[in-house]
Amino acid sequence: MAFFYRCYHFALKCIVLLIGIPNPRLYMGYDGLAQWLKTWQKNKPLLVVTDTTLLELGVLKQTLILLDEQNITWHLYNDVAPNPSIDNVENGLVVYNSQKCAGILAIGGGSVLDCAKLIGARSVKAKKSTQQLKGLFKVLTKLPPLCAIPTTAGTGSETTVAAVVNDPKTQTKYAATDFALVPSDAILIAELTQSVPDFITAATGIDALTHAIESYIGKIGLDFSDTKALQAIDLILNNLPVAYESGDDLAARENMLLASFYAGQAFTRASVGYVHAIAHQFGARYGTAHGLANSVLLMPVLNFYGPAIYPKLADIADYCKLTQPEQTDQLKAQQLLKTIAQLLATIHIPKCLPEIQSGDIKELAEAALKEAHPDYPVPVFMNQTQCEAIIREVYIQQPSKAKAVC
Ligand SMILES: [Fe+2]
Repeated sequence: MAFFYRCYHFALKCIVLLIGIPNPRLYMGYDGLAQWLKTWQKNKPLLVVTDTTLLELGVLKQTLILLDEQNITWHLYNDVAPNPSIDNVENGLVVYNSQKCAGILAIGGGSVLDCAKLIGARSVKAKKSTQQLKGLFKVLTKLPPLCAIPTTAGTGSETTVAAVVNDPKTQTKYAATDFALVPSDAILIAELTQSVPDFITAATGIDALTHAIESYIGKIGLDFSDTKALQAIDLILNNLPVAYESGDDLAARENMLLASFYAGQAFTRASVGYVHAIAHQFGARYGTAHGLANSVLLMPVLNFYGPAIYPKLADIADYCKLTQPEQTDQLKAQQLLKTIAQLLATIHIPKCLPEIQSGDIKELAEAALKEAHPDYPVPVFMNQTQCEAIIREVYIQQPSKAKAVC
């Protein structure tokens, strides 16, 4: 089976290498937004996609002022739910079509950006339902211009090939994955992440770190994805504690947005691994926030891989200047693992998740392995017993024990 999986991973690597994944044009700050708006033809209406909370918090205020100053006609769709549904996509599409919009400006977290991608996809795939866009390469048509402005530093959705949507009828979550879903433009505005609470800054930041590490230690990395992963890890190790402690530090906030963007570029080419495979099951069964689930699982999964990933971890340690060149790979890897563990402690990431139920562990592990095999090019394969052991590591056995352990 392992041989079959590796053949599949090799084929994935060849597809990414041969076809190539586009990169959004990258702009920085409100100056970057003003620059992008100058490229937009004033007679073409824009659909602004966001959620109600961001709108009410005034996060869009400056952006909407800039749109008006440039005399650009815009229409608002702000009903995107925290887990966007098919109805959100369809309702956004109604506004897009009825107002004869020619492009989309999406401002929000991963949910908003994913919803905007699917509105764009449906606008060029009028005969296909949102459900029919599920899976690989179901769009294959150029989307209208889509400018993505993330308000959290973590998902990297502003540069990835995927969009996730919920189907309330079947109570399932599914992803559309297509090179056409990469936004045409991305703008990173540090001020928009200033009001993000510290615990969300922590969890989303570790989500980005996990994207970078899993893509780097996986088996299908290319020079480009490896470089982006290393840049992201270095930025996160240096800036996440600052962004967590001092949310108003705009330099740290901007560096975290850049790190998330780079990590997104890395994992959209080189995929993720068991941290994500298991975390997705916690999200599906208990509603555990994605970043938190990844944060709790990162160390147990890295420790499971063991010496097989020491050379890759040593590369990362060297790049981040954590070690001396003459040290062994083992020492370098251990130094990096220690640094990550210290970072998790500094930003108060728990070691366990109280929502996990003992009776669910077997099924959670089965589902995680089903997701990972063969799609994720993991460095070492995990079996059912090993996966259950990792879930047990982050499971609280008794409420009285929770305080002591977590
Ligand atoms: Fe993630």
